[in-house]
Amino acid sequence: MEKKFKRTTVTSALPYANGPVHIGHLAGVYVPADIYVRYLRLKKEEVLFIGGSDEHGVPITIRAKKEGITPQDVVDRYHTLIKQSFADFGISFDIYSRTTSKTHHEVASDFFRKLYDKGEFIERTSEQYYDEEAHQFLADRYITGECPHCHSEGAYGDQCEKCGTSLSPTDLIHPKSAISGSQPVRKETKHWYLPLDQHESWLRQWILEDHKEWRPNVYGQCKSWLDMGLQPRAVSRDLDWGIPVPVEGAEGKVLYVWFDAPIGYISNTKELLPDSWETWWKDPESRLIHFIGKDNIVFHCIVFPAMLKAEGSYILPDNVPSNEFLNLEGDKISTSRNWAVWLHEYLEEFPGKQDVLRYVLTANAPETKDNDFTWRDFQARNNNELVAVYGNFVNRALVLTHKYFEGKVPAAGPLTDYDRETLHEFADVKTEVEKLLDVFKFRDAQKEAMNLARIGNKYLADTEPWKLAKTDMERVGTILNISLQLVANLAIAFEPFLPFSSQKLRGMLGMTAFDWAQLGQTDLLPTGHQLNKAELLFEKIEDATIEAQIQKLQDTKKANDEAAYKAHPIRENIDFEDFLKLDIRVGTVLECQKVPKADKLLQFKIEDGLETRTIVSGIALYYAPEELVGKQVCFIANLPPRKLRGIVSEGMILSAENADGTLAVITPEKLVKPGSQVK
Ligand code: 2FM
Ligand code: ZN
Repeated sequence: MEKKFKRTTVTSALPYANGPVHIGHLAGVYVPADIYVRYLRLKKEEVLFIGGSDEHGVPITIRAKKEGITPQDVVDRYHTLIKQSFADFGISFDIYSRTTSKTHHEVASDFFRKLYDKGEFIERTSEQYYDEEAHQFLADRYITGECPHCHSEGAYGDQCEKCGTSLSPTDLIHPKSAISGSQPVRKETKHWYLPLDQHESWLRQWILEDHKEWRPNVYGQCKSWLDMGLQPRAVSRDLDWGIPVPVEGAEGKVLYVWFDAPIGYISNTKELLPDSWETWWKDPESRLIHFIGKDNIVFHCIVFPAMLKAEGSYILPDNVPSNEFLNLEGDKISTSRNWAVWLHEYLEEFPGKQDVLRYVLTANAPETKDNDFTWRDFQARNNNELVAVYGNFVNRALVLTHKYFEGKVPAAGPLTDYDRETLHEFADVKTEVEKLLDVFKFRDAQKEAMNLARIGNKYLADTEPWKLAKTDMERVGTILNISLQLVANLAIAFEPFLPFSSQKLRGMLGMTAFDWAQLGQTDLLPTGHQLNKAELLFEKIEDATIEAQIQKLQDTKKANDEAAYKAHPIRENIDFEDFLKLDIRVGTVLECQKVPKADKLLQFKIEDGLETRTIVSGIALYYAPEELVGKQVCFIANLPPRKLRGIVSEGMILSAENADGTLAVITPEKLVKPGSQVK
């Protein structure tokens, strides 16, 4: 049975205060969260929208070191910038605070202490990497090395960015300190772990049985984590930036950023409502919803709920609508490669066009799969939908009213069948949009709202009131009355999606009452009601503007390519004898399959001229196994065999690496006999 809740606590992931925010952030988390919250507010429901910056963690300290400033300087700079960008885009937080706040330090510290006192942690001493030059343990991103899965260089101690696998520092091959570049030694250190394995059974029931309604991407990721078996997770780090572990003998140790960050939602609520925050987090009649991106799923669906459950007095999230990723012009958005549309830059280049971006990002929201943002699509959606449909309809209805009725809503006379049909069509819009918003289908919900504008646009085009002005003013009045009621409905329906335009439209209509319950009504504007001056809601975006944006990205790409080339200059000369030592052969792929539980690896059976050999290669991200069967590939035939995921690999398949890290296998231009040497 559907549970009835009294209020909703909505959180959106706390972005790292380590760089500005871009369209990927907006599309993935903040626009959907804002639509949802605005919708609930319009319905006059009790809702709280909590945001803030995530200001701890290793990347922030690395950035500070690089720039010769303090971590506090870094987070101060970006917290201010991010907060401003969100405000500029109408993300209507009730509070946007930060994890360096005093309240947060207290709340997170007390939270840890409570779990500690309840015996909810296990203590473990283990060997971790230590930089003897910098006199520091090397947590997470302080250590880099070769990824044990895809073998790319520069993987971090917590994750390989090339293949996305999450790692522990001790997994890395040839580890190196990111601080001094030296080879780290292993040294013993004590940490506190949340024993997720002990939480597995209730988590299985709670997610897999009780929350089958979660989005398939969220549910699927949780299932695969649970099926792999949960492990204890360290919740502390040896670092000097963060919240000190509030336990005796824990000097030099802080809470792991992923332990304190989600508690930030609670702290920020407490900062806003010091006396009543608990209602929003502890009353079973409160509903908790986390909006996040897909890289945060495990933390919000497994780790944080386990923390809340261990604490004992909190509610658990009711839903965790997570989006997939948004790409930009076919490429992954990347801060380090500057492959992004930064929100503050967008606003400089498209002042006043926040709603256009909000519209396009929702129309293309990566709700079920990764999606692509392109400038051409941005232009087309603006020109063909916002301008040609919504804006055009509104403008014609208002301008004609001003022209024929001095801006006063005319009375409606007798209705035709077509009028009735039109009114009937928009009577349903409320139910339709609601049905979709209630299940977090923002893209489809916005489409419904746009359909309403289409109905209006078509109605005016079909009835052509401007042609009747000389002969039948009563009919003109009826048509415009119906059109204006539709326009008023649009202002309400679009408010969650396009708040700036709705506000503008409301002003033009002189609408005072404004709430969701009115949606679908056909008497929102009384006869004789005076309208204000008509202005354009949207403007056409010209080709030249779009071309300039595309050019800007092309320039970035060129600069990246040049940097990538410089990063891999031609190596120094080698002796010919050394080259001869390398035995490169051509082989024919007989079989190819994915290696279970290793997303990036393919296992090959290769005919090498004499026999068949097994080779494991990290190219699964770039090829489906069946694509390669029957193809000829080049491989190094005289490397010593090496075990990968329990499979002995007898050689290495050669690929060319693009600047963006994608791989293409090398194949001979003509068919050759398997076993042929490459020289
Ligand atoms: O992935 C990120 O950007 C994290 N800073 C999100 C944290 S969400 C929450 F836990 F605060
Ligand atoms: Zn990797």
